[in-house]
Formats: sequence, structure tokens, C-alpha cells
Amino acid sequence: MSTKGKVVGIIANLVMVEVNQSVSQNEICYINLEGVKLMAEVIKIHGKNAYVQVFESTRGLKTGTEVEFTGHMLEATLGPGLLSKNFDGLLHDLNKMDGVFLKKGDYAAPLDEDSAWDFKPLAAKGDTVQAGSWIGEVKENWISHKILVPFKWEGKYTVKSVAEKGEYTLNDTIAVVTDQKGDEHNITMVQKWPVKLPIRAFKEKPRPFRLLETGVRVIDSFNPIVEGGTGFIPGPFGTGKTVLQHALSRQADADLIIVAACGERANEVVELFAEFPELDDPRTGRKLMERTIIIANTSNMPVAAREASVYSAMTLAEYYRSMGLKILLLADSTSRWAQALREMSNRMEELPGPDAFPMDLPAIISNFYARAGYVILNNDQTGSVTFIGTVSPAGGNLKEPVTESTKKAARCFYALSQKRADSKRYPAIDAVDSYSKYIEYPEFVQYIKENISEDWVDHINLARNILIRGHEAYEQINILGDDGVPVDYHQEFWKSEVVDFVLLQQDAFDKIDASTPIERQQYMLSKVLDIYHKEFSFENFEEVNPFFKTIINYMKQMNYSEFKSEHFKKYEKELDEFTTNGKSGSAKKSETK
Ligand SMILES: Nc1ncnc2c1ncn2[C@@H]1O[C@H](COP(=O)(O)OP(=O)(O)OP(=O)(O)O)[C@@H](O)[C@H]1O
Ligand SMILES: [Mg+2]
Repeated sequence: MSTKGKVVGIIANLVMVEVNQSVSQNEICYINLEGVKLMAEVIKIHGKNAYVQVFESTRGLKTGTEVEFTGHMLEATLGPGLLSKNFDGLLHDLNKMDGVFLKKGDYAAPLDEDSAWDFKPLAAKGDTVQAGSWIGEVKENWISHKILVPFKWEGKYTVKSVAEKGEYTLNDTIAVVTDQKGDEHNITMVQKWPVKLPIRAFKEKPRPFRLLETGVRVIDSFNPIVEGGTGFIPGPFGTGKTVLQHALSRQADADLIIVAACGERANEVVELFAEFPELDDPRTGRKLMERTIIIANTSNMPVAAREASVYSAMTLAEYYRSMGLKILLLADSTSRWAQALREMSNRMEELPGPDAFPMDLPAIISNFYARAGYVILNNDQTGSVTFIGTVSPAGGNLKEPVTESTKKAARCFYALSQKRADSKRYPAIDAVDSYSKYIEYPEFVQYIKENISEDWVDHINLARNILIRGHEAYEQINILGDDGVPVDYHQEFWKSEVVDFVLLQQDAFDKIDASTPIERQQYMLSKVLDIYHKEFSFENFEEVNPFFKTIINYMKQMNYSEFKSEHFKKYEKELDEFTTNGKSGSAKKSETK
């Protein structure tokens, strides 16, 4: 008999339920509100009472209402047909729902049970398999979607039979396997997995080491992230978190992008829905939406489901990783997720931690980030989930609990600076305050040496140093005045401005400049370093500014031109001529645009 209960107390969407037998933490239940079933999750158990968090508005709910427990946690339904879809935080298919607003108790299944898929077997009779093994594959858009032995199954199994190549629907048996006791089990194309538990159906999770190209220069060339790495983007309001994440979702070199829009403005998410289907994938020429899944829990949707949305997104990412794919998971913003946790914790009157966030916030955040990673599957194929979250620290205070906890969990830190955003230096990532811990990994350095170039890491470090020294020179100039410092200080400062304007700043809305492939980044970086290494002679500080502005101008034109095109070469030639003859004299003659 399943567990039943009745409502004994209601505080907004926290509902106390008296239960007739045991329930477990995170178990899902349904509250029967006059025929409408409201989904809820057990978040605390106290004696005969279960505290459940309702994923919807509890308006109209009365004590005494009946509750039915399901015996399982919040689960994601996994199978072919998830790609290109838009889900809410509980993985209900948003396209299947009618109307603009979701109705209470309106749950649309994530997968279409009747859909038919062209199945091709990969396993054969007699094979030994285990959770996560590939039984066969179907084509989902252009991805080879593997049909996996359910993650929940323990131990080894022997394949008794596998369906022949052909069309099958989701619930058809496509394989029969026998366990060690000799019992038979059927495998279909769908399985379920509790979203709050990490999927561990892989052999190893070594430290990640391969560069994940994002096309964003200040990331790739200054603070690179790796396949299976973690990063976060803290930034005050309006400094470009969302624009940057959208750029990453369009450009990053991943097989699949999962975007969790968590508690953000509904209109931005609508933009994402409207914009994505139209956009072309710059790498494959296909539509971007073909490799994208969007999970939306906007600021006007129930807060409780916000917490679930990031877990649902991570579960989908882990599922596709088990197929040997490279996934990029983006969450905007994880602060809104943490706020949902705070709300519930406060309602339960738990002992509050800093800023009233739950005491275990650091652990919750680090456990979540730990689910990302680069894995070696049981069949020796590899897959990865790279996770980048945004954080919106109130008032730009990087000492607040969500930023601090995330800093401990994520390996890359992309700090957006208010000052840079104010002066329209986009993307506003502060290259010096930001860091990537991967640069310190010997395996990463090795990988870069073998696959990009011997001196790439040295170049990255040098470029960072130029910025730091330029900043110091700038401060000296500010304190002592333009003519109170040697002319060299001006040169030092302007050389760092070349790095800033040519490499750091990038126009997210320009077709060419928006995404820079590594080869091109390398080319421009060495070009900028060449200029850095040159000594120019100036008679006085007034000559320095127009001279370097001309250089910046040529190089920006190069950035806006197709790589190595006639235009590009023309500007490059002019730049070379200018810097070779380049003394202050010639700089004066040249116009600065
Ligand atoms: N790379 C960029 N290139 C050009 N403009 C940009 C860039 N990044 C941000 N902007 C400008 O800054 C504005 C705000 O950016 P965005 O919405 O991404 O900020 P946000 O940090 O997500 O804000 P919020 O905290 O309110 O969510 C954009 O509408 C755009 O005009
Ligand atoms: Mg935003």
C-alpha cells in the first residue's frame, strides 16, 4: 500500500503533511486539491510529519486535504526526444502546454511515447553489460543517441537478445538481459533517474585537460576552460552575464548545449526561445536549436521548481555524457537557485547561515559543481560535462555567501567588472582578477603544447603581465600627472591598452568578431606581443596616445575582417608598415578614427 497523508499546516508553498507510514527524504508526493494534483517534494521529516515543498502555488489549499506519496524521488525521464525541446524545471514539455501561463497541475510528459526511432543494435547476444552500457543507438537530430542499460541497475548482466535494426517506439523492448541469478530484465529506450543523485555509470573521472574552445578571447586566451571543467561568472546587475552565456551557448565547441534559465527575467528567456530556433550553428551550419535543450524556470514561475531546474539540467547533461558526448551546461543564475534554497530554509525555521542562506549552502554548491567532469566510460569512450554558472552578487559584493561558496567549487572565475561594463569594454570580464586553475595543471599544459603550440601558455602569462604592468603605469600617471612620469610609463600603459582593445574586448553582436577560433586567437596574440616587444621612441608623452590609437584601430579592423581575407591582409600590411616606420613622427601623420 502506498503511503498517504493529510495536510495539517500550510506556510506559502511549504506544507506539513501527517503521514500514515514512513516516507523518505526527497520523495515526491501529490496533493489532491479538488481534483488538481499538485506535485511536491519531501524536504524534511519530523516524526509523523513530513514537510513538503510544493512546486506550484498552494492558493486554495486547506488542511485535511489528502496527499499521496509516490515512493520515489523527483525523477527525470530519459530517452530519445529530449533534444531541441524547452522544458520547465520539472522537465514538463513547455511546447505541449496550452496557453501562456501554466495551469496548476498541468504536467506534460517530456517524451512522446508514440514516437518511433530508427534503432541500430550495438550490443550482441552473450555480451556482458552493466549500468550505462550501450545497447544500441538511434539518430536524434544529428546526434547518435545511445540506448543505455538503466543507470539504476546494479551488477553485471548478460545480453540474451537485442532487437534487430528497425523502427521501434519508446516503450518497445529492444533488449532482454539476464542477471547473475538468471532472472530476465527488459530494456526499453526510456529510463528514469532521480535528478538529485549524480549518475555514476562510468569507469573513471580523471582531471580534465582538454581545452574547450569557446571563441571568447578573454576566456580562451587568458583564462581557458577545459572539457569537463567548471567555471562561474559573477557580475553585478547588467554587466553582461546573460549576453556572455548566450555567446557561449552559440559558439562553444560542444556536441550539446543545455541552458538552465533559472529565475531570470521571463522576457530574456522568451528571447532565447525565439532567437535560438533561427540561429545557425557556426560549426556545423545546422540550426543551433538542434543541439540545444532549454530548461526554463523564470522569475514568474513557482520558486520551488527553480531548485529542481538546475538538477534536472545536470541530469540531462550526465545522461548525454554517458553516450560519449561533450556537453556544455549553462545556468543563469545560480544566485536565484540559492535564493530558492534560502526561502525554504527560512520557512522551515532552520538555523540560518550567513545572509540567512542555509548553513550547508557551500556543500550544496560544491556537490553540484562536482557533478560536472570529464569521464572515461566503461567502454573506454570519453564524455564530458562542462558547467558554467552565473552568480549575481547583490551590490556586486563578491564576499557574499553564494559567490564565496561558488569560488571554492568552480575552477575558473570570470569576474565581470562594473567599471569595464560602464565604459562599454565588453565582455566585461576583468582578465586580471579572473583566473583559470587549469593553467596550473601539468596535463593541461602538456595538452596545449601538443595541440596548440609550445609557447601558448607562456604567451598567456605574458599577456596577463602586460595588463598588470599597464595598470600600474596607469596608476602612477594618475598620481603624478601626465608629465610627472617618464614617457616609458605612457608606453607601458598604452601597450596594455592594445591587449585590452584587441584581445579582451570583443563585439558579441558582430558576425565575425563574436567568435574567434583558437588559430586566429593565437595569431592575434602573437601580433599583439610583437608590438609589445618593440621599443618605440617618443619625444614626449603627447605622441604616445595617437600612435597607439592608430595601432589599435588597425587591429580592430583586422578583428572585424574575415581571417586572412583581402581586407584582413590589407589592414595587417598597413599596421606592419606603420609599426616598422613607426616612430612618433609617422604616428602624427596618421588619422585616428
Ligand atoms: N559582449 C557584449 N557586447 C556588447 N554589449 C554587451 C555585451 N555584454 C553586455 N552588453 C550590454 O549590456 C547589457 C546588459 O547585459 P546582460 O543582460 O547580459 O547583463 P546581466 O549581467 O545578465 O544583467 P542582470 O544581472 O540584470 O541579469 C546588454 O543588454 C548589452 O547592451
Ligand atoms: Mg542576466
